Amino acid sequence: MRIVTIGRGTIGGGLARLWRDAGHDVEELGREGGDASDADVVLVAVPGARISDALSRVTGLQGKIAVDATNIMPARQGEFPSYADEVKSFTGAPVAKSFNMNFGSLFGAVREQRVRPSNWYVADEGARQVVERLIRDAGYDPVRVGDLSRARDFENAVWLLMGIEPVGGVFYRFGAPGEL
Ligand SMILES: NC(=O)c1ccc[n+]([C@@H]2O[C@H](COP(=O)([O-])OP(=O)(O)OC[C@H]3O[C@@H](n4cnc5c(N)ncnc54)[C@H](OP(=O)(O)O)[C@@H]3O)[C@@H](O)[C@H]2O)c1
Repeated sequence: MRIVTIGRGTIGGGLARLWRDAGHDVEELGREGGDASDADVVLVAVPGARISDALSRVTGLQGKIAVDATNIMPARQGEFPSYADEVKSFTGAPVAKSFNMNFGSLFGAVREQRVRPSNWYVADEGARQVVERLIRDAGYDPVRVGDLSRARDFENAVWLLMGIEPVGGVFYRFGAPGEL
């Protein structure tokens, strides 16, 4: 797939490396913005309070499937029901929310684990196939925890992840009985 990451820091840059290793064509945009016209999917990985500022500097977003990785720390900003809805106001197309519930500092160790770590996501139906593929190609197993109407709850759940020790970050794994 041709992927444009909006944000090229820990999350945008880290996922770009993993996805390139899996054979994808990835372009990384920084705060100056750029063009996403050729993208099959865009990743949004900028500070949560800067979503509208960052996306307003990117052309060609209309109609693009988006994966929103932003989170609400240190505090939610703005009037949208969720950050995922804020992203959708620019794309007008299916959105998935994922990678917000994983530690970017551990991306380099994803493929070294005994079992594949899980990665929770919520998504519009039209973004499910794409986000599941991108989660797998980053080395995780996708776990759908709701549709996009649960995005705000999902965003708020990041505080549970932040409360887990060790503070340096963890992987998690969910499985049906008999699977683990
Ligand atoms: N770090 C994690 O473990 C983690 C985990 C899950 C979710 N998240 C979320 O993912 C998002 C990205 O986090 P990150 O750790 O990748 O952040 P980061 O390393 O600080 O990178 C932020 C990126 O956003 C870009 N950007 C665009 N517009 C911006 C603006 N107006 N102000 C500041 N930066 C702007 C920056 O551009 P330049 O390259 O030009 O500076 C940079 O590439 C955040 O919403 C964060 O909460 C982070």
